[in-house]
Amino acid sequence: MTAFIQARGLRKSFGTTDALRGIDLDIHRGEVIAVMGPSGSGKSSLLHCLAGVLVPDSGTVIVDGVTVSALNEARRSALRLTEFGFVFQFGQLLPDLTAVDNVTIPLLLGGMKRKQALKEAHGWLDRLGLEAAAARLPGELSGGEAQRVAIARALVAHPSVLFADEPTGSLDSLAAENVLTAMLELVRQAGTTLVMITHDPRTAAYADREIIVRDGQLAATDRVGIS
Ligand SMILES: Nc1ncnc2c1ncn2[C@@H]1O[C@H](COP(=O)(O)OP(=O)(O)O)[C@@H](O)[C@H]1O
Ligand SMILES: [Mg+2]
Repeated sequence: MTAFIQARGLRKSFGTTDALRGIDLDIHRGEVIAVMGPSGSGKSSLLHCLAGVLVPDSGTVIVDGVTVSALNEARRSALRLTEFGFVFQFGQLLPDLTAVDNVTIPLLLGGMKRKQALKEAHGWLDRLGLEAAAARLPGELSGGEAQRVAIARALVAHPSVLFADEPTGSLDSLAAENVLTAMLELVRQAGTTLVMITHDPRTAAYADREIIVRDGQLAATDRVGIS
């Protein structure tokens, strides 16, 4: 079976820093992948190349048959909006919009009417146990609540892939556990592919497979193996 995400020979430098030094990676549809490795090893660069945020200097990224690395910025941007969701460590919610309005953004950008978008957004907040937080501003949310709102926003438009860069990295361990289990439940239900960077081995243990990035290369793969 052809992998849903295929990366071949990925290289990326920033000035004299070689962030990625030849990465080959296959990810299957619906797989949950944990990306681990030391700080500065190239994890975020890899995630950004897979998601079409960065264009590799050489090598290719194919997602669902589309060669993302060959698209221009406008088409990569359109693909990110329709096919991918993103969750980062923090600071991703628009501070002047309520939680529910933050979640409607991808739908409104996709052309959905506001009334319908609000309905869908409320549905996702409910599923994440956040119905009481819908009208609050990000500054009025706990760290864990804010990350769950960010997850709702990342999933509301039904992406095929969710890219998460240390999504629980700013949370205490209990909040991290709650956010992580909520995200995984939704991702597993929807069959969404998840590529998640984490420093925490307990977080990585939830994945189907761990990959380790060291000095811009993959160090080890297939803790569980590809089914
Ligand atoms: N935009 C950038 N400009 C310059 N250097 C960068 C940039 N992004 C990443 N780097 C460098 O590339 C290397 C890999 O970074 P990164 O992919 O962020 O690693 P990680 O996510 O594993 O911490 C590091 O040395 C980092 O300093
Ligand atoms: Mg990083």
